[in-house]
Amino acid sequence: MDKIFRDALKGLEACYHGGSIDKVRLDFSTSLNPLGPPPSIAETVRSLSISDLSLYPESDSRSVCYSIANSQKLAPDEVLLGNGASELLFMIPLIAIEKGDIALIPSPTYGEYSRAVLMMGGNISYYPLLREDDFRLQIDSFTETIDEIMPKLVFLCNPNNPTGEYLDRSAVLDILEACRKRDTILVIDEAYVDLSPKKWYSDDLIQNGNLIIVRSLTKSFSCAGIRIGYLVSDKKIISALKAVKIPWNVTILGQKVALALIDELEYLKKGVELVEREKAYLLHALGKLPVYAIQSDANFILVDLKGRSAASINEKLLERGIYLRDCASFHLPDFVRIGIRKHEDNVELVEALTEILGVEEV
Ligand SMILES: Cc1ncc(COP(=O)(O)O)c(C=O)c1O
Repeated sequence: MDKIFRDALKGLEACYHGGSIDKVRLDFSTSLNPLGPPPSIAETVRSLSISDLSLYPESDSRSVCYSIANSQKLAPDEVLLGNGASELLFMIPLIAIEKGDIALIPSPTYGEYSRAVLMMGGNISYYPLLREDDFRLQIDSFTETIDEIMPKLVFLCNPNNPTGEYLDRSAVLDILEACRKRDTILVIDEAYVDLSPKKWYSDDLIQNGNLIIVRSLTKSFSCAGIRIGYLVSDKKIISALKAVKIPWNVTILGQKVALALIDELEYLKKGVELVEREKAYLLHALGKLPVYAIQSDANFILVDLKGRSAASINEKLLERGIYLRDCASFHLPDFVRIGIRKHEDNVELVEALTEILGVEEV
């Protein structure tokens, strides 16, 4: 029976994802806009009739691509819509990776990049982000590694999940230049960028020709269930991706919601303000506990539990209906990632942690 499966699938396992445990009342394991979904999503859902649902959607989500292109000063054929950023991330190795090709991936980072590469028969070279550097990417040595190993793909999560580091434009330019010299495609996953106060405009960098920027509306608008992501890139890359894309990949609901969300800039601004206020509160409170919180430019915080296992802390939190992201799947079993929520939820988390870790009220 095993003979029917491709060699590349040996050892591949389903990846663990947070967000679906029954007893959870306050879920800090997903990192979504703490404002929740904007009202325009509910309005769009209500505006759909049953007869709308009997039609096929636009196969290439043309209207949404035009609208995104328009708002970002791009051409429509520089944009591709996906059923979540996840679908797009899995399409990229389909156009780039042959058996034995190398993808360079910093670690720890989002686990799906390596799965997408491995399933095409590619090899991963992990670039270690070190605890003693607070997991910051060392740009010079990273670009040297690109030069040395000449990977086919480089994945960068910016801001990085789970560490929260957000590279600035000059760091990304250095990496892009190193990739250009080696004919490497740089994939930047900006799934969390909309909720970072340091967000900078990266779209113009696609003119370099070897860059793919992937974004998700999931985190920005707290709409994980709708599944909308998009990528922007050079026309040739988009056209190769279209050749492997599943038809009608984004539903009518997904396309209509995407159209409604493109102009919601004010909502994002309010989301960032709330995240920053609550991040300051959480960092201050965590600073009084016997743990170490890594500074974050994103809407989540990675916390070193200093030798305590994330599983044991989560077990105690779960008795109170609270759940954090256990970072064992990032190979950090004594770290948790806290997705920043509304103030009252964050206060409850701090109180619970204070009790569990056995220290004075903060
Ligand atoms: C870094 C990163 N990229 C992409 C995704 C998936 O995004 P989507 O919901 O749009 O598929 C996630 C989900 O957790 C993520 O953390």
